[in-house]
Amino acid sequence: ESSTEVDISAIEPGQAIKAVFRKQPLFIKRLTRSEIEAANAIEADSLRDPESLGDRTKEGHEDVLVTMGVCTHLGCVPLGAAEGEIKGEFGGYFCPCHGSHYDTAGRIRKGPAPTNLEVPEYEFTSDTVIRVG
Ligand code: FES
Repeated sequence: ESSTEVDISAIEPGQAIKAVFRKQPLFIKRLTRSEIEAANAIEADSLRDPESLGDRTKEGHEDVLVTMGVCTHLGCVPLGAAEGEIKGEFGGYFCPCHGSHYDTAGRIRKGPAPTNLEVPEYEFTSDTVIRVG
């Protein structure tokens, strides 16, 4: 299967970009310190889909969140990667189709989506490039 390489060097803290992976939207976000702190302030076991930010990022790159841009409810593309301040109630992504709110780690916090935004397989090939898939 094909993989996708993305240069993430231009992503500023607090910004996310959209890419494409296997014909589906992919979100790559660089988290601010406060977004990291917000994610880490929540006990993972209390979540619908219990995962920590560390579970969802690579060691040494906890500020880089790579997820599919596909709502786990019925597959809409959530807002928040390129729509400025439309981030939902938990500061991450918001799916307007039926109101799913994802937090700064891309975890479902409110609304009908059953699971967190999927983190695809990926690796850092350098400090500034990831290869997804
Ligand atoms: Fe996202 Fe239903 S598809 S909330």
